[in-house]
Amino acid sequence: MPNTSIDSLQHEERRFPPSPKFRADAVATASLYDEASADRLGFWSAQARELLHWSTDFTKDLDWSNAPFATWFEDGELNVAYNCLDRHVLAGNGDRIALHWEGEPGDSRDISYSELTAEVKRAANLLISLGIGKGDRVAVYLPMVPEAVIAMLAVARIGAVHSVIFGGFSADSIRSRVDDAEAKLVITADGGWRKGKVSALKPAVDAALAKPGDHTVQNVLVVKRGNNEVDWIDGRDLWWHEAIAAAESEHEAQGFAAETPLFILYTSGTTGKPKGILHTSGGYLTQVAFTHKNVFDLHPESDVYWCTADVGWITGHSYVVYGPLANGATQVLYEGTPDAPHGGRWWEIIQKYGVTIFYTAPTAIRSFMKLGRQIPDDFDLSSLRLLGSVGEPINPEAWVWYRDVIGAGTTPIVDTWWQTETGAIMVSALPGVTTLKPGSAQAALPGISIDVLDDSGNGVPPGGGGLLVVTEPWPAMLRGIWGDPERFVETYWSKFTTGPLYFAGDGARLDEDGDIWLLGRVDDVMNVSGHRLSTAEIESALVSHPIVAESAVVGAADEATGQAVVAFVILRSEHVDTYTTDDASALLRRHVTEQIGAIARPREVFIVAELPKTRSGKIMRRLLQDVAEGRDIGDTTTLADTSVMQIISDRLK
Ligand code: WT7
Repeated sequence: MPNTSIDSLQHEERRFPPSPKFRADAVATASLYDEASADRLGFWSAQARELLHWSTDFTKDLDWSNAPFATWFEDGELNVAYNCLDRHVLAGNGDRIALHWEGEPGDSRDISYSELTAEVKRAANLLISLGIGKGDRVAVYLPMVPEAVIAMLAVARIGAVHSVIFGGFSADSIRSRVDDAEAKLVITADGGWRKGKVSALKPAVDAALAKPGDHTVQNVLVVKRGNNEVDWIDGRDLWWHEAIAAAESEHEAQGFAAETPLFILYTSGTTGKPKGILHTSGGYLTQVAFTHKNVFDLHPESDVYWCTADVGWITGHSYVVYGPLANGATQVLYEGTPDAPHGGRWWEIIQKYGVTIFYTAPTAIRSFMKLGRQIPDDFDLSSLRLLGSVGEPINPEAWVWYRDVIGAGTTPIVDTWWQTETGAIMVSALPGVTTLKPGSAQAALPGISIDVLDDSGNGVPPGGGGLLVVTEPWPAMLRGIWGDPERFVETYWSKFTTGPLYFAGDGARLDEDGDIWLLGRVDDVMNVSGHRLSTAEIESALVSHPIVAESAVVGAADEATGQAVVAFVILRSEHVDTYTTDDASALLRRHVTEQIGAIARPREVFIVAELPKTRSGKIMRRLLQDVAEGRDIGDTTTLADTSVMQIISDRLK
């Protein structure tokens, strides 16, 4: 049962002011919509050929005969890294800067397409020398350093599969991902800069691999970044800089079949176990390149693009690594947090590199709003001409601040809806073609088919709300959940019986013009700082602690992060008197951080004597959400014990 009804989801359309217009000379044209609606598959085939180099051209477009398992351009062959690197050098753009890398303490490196290509070739040879070949899985646990991009591209170049694990995740999270994908190699760093100091990374990898039970990892490659002391296991551990210096410099890219797995990326679902979302090569690269070029109106010869996402998330895969590099863009890559060493760090970087296109999340905007407009006003942001937003619905206050303070009141904002599973942007305005409607993600992009349906699968009329679905397969769609085809079918394709229809888990509203307004998740998944976390995963981390008998986790509205994790915990009877409420809360917040990572740390842990349950034993999260958000408690008549909520709220006062 969903914990959120469509009716209860916020809808703020009326509070958005008018938007500035896109400039008229954009790269996208209205004919894209016409071509795609006349012949969707022909349109994607044309884009695939126009945007990418195929070493063997394809004759097939979509094969949907085994739905929901799709193949795109199946008999074509390409090399993803060649498309992101070599061909730009061969086209005479080798001197163009690919990465303006900025370290948190202020060190920096400019890396041209020639230099990046040369580094990736060496890294590819290094991987081969470590026994990595086509289809092998490589885990990547790195800070935002150039080696993160180099490692991903080197893995892709030899037809292997990367699994990037966000640098904030714990040893337990690393181990479960390494085991699930049976990774042969882990690429990590001694440490990276975060919030003004070096934060160690290798110890988490060491701890992950030291856990009981066999694992599949043969080597750990270690980038030297933090210069912090690290433990070393001879024979297993290798320094990246030493190994790469010894590697051959020439590497000829070979074409791989379009459906060759490119990466696995783990994301949260409604059960405790993270899902390994599988993406493949040709279709994925086609759609990320298409959307990056058209949604961000990219002029690669003159633009400086910056997407602030970490490569540990899908946004970093699609709009830091694969989309921008496939398009030969010049971009900024920043290691650190926005507030180190000072609150104006991001704006300083925009000024330094003359960033023209800036893509970030509402949660970051809100955290800057708190610091005040004085800080950005101290920097020259006049190079910006296009702003992007992703991760959650943007609220009017954040939208206005983004446009006025960062965008000088005149810079358009594109709100882009998509997911780890969709691989690339699905719903967005299109610069130069559509109008702009603030707060709305607006319309399906050319070649993408989206609908809003009620629970029985009927389309909702204009003005109505329902569930967001994708009605036709798309090139960058996930190809499955690693090792779990049934879960793939069950999670995404079984909500409606009227088709193969992909259910995204989001509620949406259609306005009178047919534009789409995203309302939020309708399942037991919360959105914290633009990242999905599952209530079940955090609950299982909590009950793994010996003092916990039962737990329930909800996402509560939070000014800075959109939603925040709030936990309700019943202690085992023998511990009730041993711990004060404060001690137990602090202990359990730490425990969740150790089990999953700081991103999942509860904002609050409430120690309670009972949880509200229905007669069939299901926890009524809606009531806990009322408590967590400080609201009057709603209808409690279906509770097994109607006095429970009174007891909980009395206790919390
Ligand atoms: C969920 C996907 C895709 C990159 C970031 C998160 C929410 C994403 C928007 C938007 C409203 C959005 C949805 C979606 N979401 N973009 N523009 N407006 N909501 O990736 O962790 O896979 O999460 O983020 O709820 O389902 P993710």
